[in-house]
Amino acid sequence: MGDTAIQIDGLRKTYAAQGNAPTKEALKGIDLAIPAGSIFGLLGPNGAGKSTLINILAGLVRKTAGTVQIWGFDQDVNPRQSRAAIGVMPQELNLDAFFTPRAALEVQAGLYGIPRANRRTDEILEMIGLSDKADAYARSLSGGMRRRLLLGKALVHSPRVLVLDEPTAGVDIELRQMLWANVRRMNEEHGTTIILTTHYLEEAEEMCDEIAIVNHGEVIARDRTSTLVGRLDAKTLVITPDGDAPAIGLPAGVDLTRRPGGVLAFAYRRSEISADAILDAVRAAGIRISDVTSEEPDLEDVFLALTTSTPADNAA
Ligand SMILES: Nc1ncnc2c1ncn2[C@@H]1O[C@H](COP(=O)(O)OP(=O)(O)OP(=O)(O)O)[C@@H](O)[C@H]1O
Ligand SMILES: [Mg+2]
Repeated sequence: MGDTAIQIDGLRKTYAAQGNAPTKEALKGIDLAIPAGSIFGLLGPNGAGKSTLINILAGLVRKTAGTVQIWGFDQDVNPRQSRAAIGVMPQELNLDAFFTPRAALEVQAGLYGIPRANRRTDEILEMIGLSDKADAYARSLSGGMRRRLLLGKALVHSPRVLVLDEPTAGVDIELRQMLWANVRRMNEEHGTTIILTTHYLEEAEEMCDEIAIVNHGEVIARDRTSTLVGRLDAKTLVITPDGDAPAIGLPAGVDLTRRPGGVLAFAYRRSEISADAILDAVRAAGIRISDVTSEEPDLEDVFLALTTSTPADNAA
């Protein structure tokens, strides 16, 4: 199976027309290889197709065309083995209101054929912080607690690949930190491959080794997180002058914004202009520099640049 946890080829999904909603081509031919042992982020705006992709991996949505291999097992050829290799925490709450967290975990373990002696129910309850709610009905849990239980259900069969669809949407800071600490630990100690979607870009930037950006059912960028961020050309040089700053004769292509406290922010493209040229212009204007910092683009800038342009624009 090599080093690939998930191999997706030519994956398409068209949802049938419903009522007055026309057919929807949610995935338009996705090719994606997700390395084993990585923490992989799937990003994209609302409706991009992320959950559709994840739900196909989970076996919750039927694909229209293409192949999916999970841990080397083709979903259609070896459905049992491929399902055993993956655990999915879905975006939608799909809990049975009359089950307690303990019962929900036990039933889930039963579905995966885990013998009673090998079940990790108490350990998982502890890990998701629901030990004290173990015997309460799911309907009495708060929204955040229900999401924790969804995570617990994804873990009962100790999957090699754990998929989290917006695990931190609407959860408090404490749970978010607990979740990421657990995810990191599973990744580091057990080599669990993690695939996650999030709308919090700083979270993706901090957590993910690699990222794919999905837009309108297509992968429009896929790279190491650092490479993706480094691909943006925009840069800002921020200078705090010592005293007043008069007019400055700047090279073409440099955009000056004056910030509070007399701070000067020079936006430029590093492929066209050097920081030196800007510093020279500032000194030539007779300005003494008391501090210089530079601002790099972050994932949010990459994301916006890619998802607000047409696919033809970013083909280059
Ligand atoms: N069951 C369904 N029937 C018809 N259309 C659907 C269905 N589920 C999703 N879609 C459509 O498919 C497209 C992709 O939806 P999907 O839920 O995969 O997006 P997403 O990237 O997960 O978005 P979000 O960030 O809002 O969760 C959307 O246009 C959506 O309206
Ligand atoms: Mg979604």
